[in-house]
Amino acid sequence: MKRILVTGGTGYIGSHTVVELLQAGCEVTIVDNLSNSFRVVLERIASISGRVPDFIEGDIRDRAVMEAALKHSQAEAVIHFAGLKAVGESVEQPLKYYDNNVNGTLVLCEAMNACGVKKLIFSSSATVYGDAAAPYREDMPLGRATNPYGASKAMIERILEDQCIADSDWSVGALRYFNPIGAHASGLIGEDPQGIPNNLMPFISKVAVGQLPQLSIFGDDYDTPDGTCIRDYLHVGDLADGHAKALKALATPGYHVFNLGTGRGYSVKEMVETFQRVTGQAVPHVYAPRREGDLAEVWADASKAKRELGWSADTPLEKMMEDTWRWQSGNPNGYRG
Ligand code: NAD
Ligand code: UD1
Repeated sequence: MKRILVTGGTGYIGSHTVVELLQAGCEVTIVDNLSNSFRVVLERIASISGRVPDFIEGDIRDRAVMEAALKHSQAEAVIHFAGLKAVGESVEQPLKYYDNNVNGTLVLCEAMNACGVKKLIFSSSATVYGDAAAPYREDMPLGRATNPYGASKAMIERILEDQCIADSDWSVGALRYFNPIGAHASGLIGEDPQGIPNNLMPFISKVAVGQLPQLSIFGDDYDTPDGTCIRDYLHVGDLADGHAKALKALATPGYHVFNLGTGRGYSVKEMVETFQRVTGQAVPHVYAPRREGDLAEVWADASKAKRELGWSADTPLEKMMEDTWRWQSGNPNGYRG
């Protein structure tokens, strides 16, 4: 497939995937409302790939915009990143999350149906497994989400699966991401959270660059070897490659689910120690109470993607740290200059 419409393509994972697609020779059209990203990302993508993606500033909830984008791009498939992702905010403003994520996906799918485009890759999350015991396998039942963000992902998965059952021309790849970190090796694109980061890796790098005084490690009394939580961190470049490979699975109609993770976990303590060792930067940290909703261990059984897509996330943790630091130190204020 050569012509791809990418929603949310100026965001963190989207921008890395767009680079990957352009480098593979695809024609890419991005639709993004810039609610959590910046237009300058387009220039950065162009400097890395030597090609400028088509860009439409628009909202996935606007059916006319989405139909026009599908027609203009002549897309054969859609990769759908657009969504809101802050867990805490989703608890405070659930309607905003259901509207943006669930309603946005419904409008997108209606527009796709109207235009006869029936291939979709969707950004799901390991959060849909709920509190099952790791490692997670794709054939495990979905758990009960503890927050509206997670619930929105599980609802969308159900909707997409039902659509594949109803119309056998549809094919959907639901990619359940574990914990993407790192940045492009050029240091030109990376993760740029607004305000105080919720996630571990951007928090560590903001402490290292001197913008936050210290990291709080949430809990040191978990039933894990060093007492801190374990997660499956993967390089965002590997994740981008996973999307390019997953497009091939869309040749077969139906609903396809893949975990995208490395299949191994690191503790919070190991993350802090590795970052300090690799970058030579100090990360002052203290131990704090557990964060509500956290699970002790989350990591993927990543064998299905390897078997069926020929994909695995092999970039070592050290390189994830180096790339994070190159991006953070070169762009201390992210895309805001
Ligand atoms: P991001 O916020 O950097 O990117 C999302 C992009 O979507 C942003 O550019 C934003 O402006 C755009 N957007 C949001 N709502 C929109 C709308 N209604 N119309 C058009 N554009 C809209 O997030 P990300 O980290 O790149 O995540 C991409 C996707 O992957 C999201 O759906 C997220 O839930 C999912 N995901 C992310 C992670 C993670 O750890 N980053 C983990 C699992 C799943
Ligand atoms: C969180 C979300 C999850 C979402 C994922 C990716 C919660 C409960 N879960 O998952 O739904 O899909 O982000 O966006 O919010 N940590 C610290 N100090 C910090 C930040 C994090 O110790 O300042 C710890 C956490 O307790 C956790 C680990 O670092 O053990 C990773 O945290 P995080 O990056 O937020 O990812 P998840 O918890 O996997």
